[in-house]
Amino acid sequence: MVGISEVKGNSRENRTAAHTHIKGLGLRSDGYAEPSSGGFVGQVGAREACGVVVDLIKSKKMSGRAVLLAGPPGTGKTACALAVSQELGTKVPFCPIVGSEVYSTEIKKTEALMENFRRAIGLRVRETKEVYEGEVTELTPEEAENPLGGYGKTISHLLIGLKSYKGTKKLRLDPSIYEAIQKERVAVGDVIYLEANTGACKRVGRSDAYATEFDLEAEEYVPIPKGEVHKKKEIVQDVTLHDLDTANARPQGGQDIMSMMGQLTKPKKTEITDKLREEINKVVSRYIDQGVAELVPGVLFIDEVHMLDIECFTYLNRALESAISPIVILASNRGKCAIRGADELVAAHGIPPDLLARLLIIPTSPYSPEEVKMIIRIRARIEGLSISEPALDKVAEHGVKVSLRYALQLLTPANLLAKVNRKSEIDVDDVAECEDLFIDTQRSANIVSAADSFIS
Ligand SMILES: Nc1ncnc2c1ncn2[C@@H]1O[C@H](COP(=O)(O)OP(=O)(O)O)[C@@H](O)[C@H]1O
Ligand SMILES: [Mg+2]
Repeated sequence: MVGISEVKGNSRENRTAAHTHIKGLGLRSDGYAEPSSGGFVGQVGAREACGVVVDLIKSKKMSGRAVLLAGPPGTGKTACALAVSQELGTKVPFCPIVGSEVYSTEIKKTEALMENFRRAIGLRVRETKEVYEGEVTELTPEEAENPLGGYGKTISHLLIGLKSYKGTKKLRLDPSIYEAIQKERVAVGDVIYLEANTGACKRVGRSDAYATEFDLEAEEYVPIPKGEVHKKKEIVQDVTLHDLDTANARPQGGQDIMSMMGQLTKPKKTEITDKLREEINKVVSRYIDQGVAELVPGVLFIDEVHMLDIECFTYLNRALESAISPIVILASNRGKCAIRGADELVAAHGIPPDLLARLLIIPTSPYSPEEVKMIIRIRARIEGLSISEPALDKVAEHGVKVSLRYALQLLTPANLLAKVNRKSEIDVDDVAECEDLFIDTQRSANIVSAADSFIS
């Protein structure tokens, strides 16, 4: 037996991250939360409130509003926000950032915020395109004498035969399309897709009819396209305003040599200016008026929102009032704290009162011991660890006494210890050893302050 195994890429599905087990809000169809569902345990009130937010977003009644998830660390605020994004699906943009991300030496804080705002506003564009689609039956370049004289010949046209379920067609294409076809490595027997207006060409895959041919290379086989070769097709594209901004930030043009050199070395984008954004907004609203496009307000999630400063908050206020605005979800684990950049001004959650007044606040509360145990059990399963019942109890105990995060962090090293000790599952000893190796904050602080008093 030759050892052949499929190589699994380092893709997202194969990694377990802190919130991998969260698959959604776990709500019933009537909007009430199951005690444990979708990877979520407890926190019933917050989940139901998030469910209402999801409904409001889906019915497009929420644009320009803001929600605050407030609660102690490790009570599932970030998990709630991610579950909201999962409930919304991939068609609604969801842009997560952390408050501190706006501080960069390269761009202004408000610029960074604006960029993320625009990442969270989607546009669904419907276009009817004229396309040619079919299996390639013939591919012959037509040669002509080189028009510049000299030797050699040039390709003047490309003859291509296409076959679909209902018919066949022979097309004569420009040499420019020939290049595109060469780039896609199209050969006879492939199914391709040609856009009539732009000449864009895409190789869809190998035609089904050739599925039996001997081919070691991984190929994707596709059926012969239905209908005629030449047809009108409605194409729906989901883009965000930020996509439009970057796509329209054209390479800097100019007649001088320097700029030409610049273009040769690398396609330099111009900055995305306010003017450019205004232009794009104009075009977008025209599209919306014409019914070509539809606005899809998404979610901008700002975690650890108390990290923003007063400038950012005033900016947020204004941005929420603009005609096209996403829904903003904030999260904070601070009670009362100083607003950054506002000279010791203390406010709830470190957010200025005028913004606070706009917020719908969803509280998250600490978990009961049973809930902590259930969450740890779910995590152990997701990480593929087996753990004995008494060991689970012991980890859960830490979850209650220290913090849920500390308990969750103990799992992986405890598993390593169990493996070293050649055990098939984590038991109490491994957990005990782990808690000596990796101490919690309370103990570490005590040790260090004891040493301090020794020094002084
Ligand atoms: N109700 C819950 N059900 C399942 N897992 C949870 C729940 N609450 C929190 N977690 C998990 O606990 C960890 C800490 O929660 P997190 O959402 O980061 O807390 P916060 O953002 O409130 O500080 C994460 O791995 C999270 O997925
Ligand atoms: Mg968090």
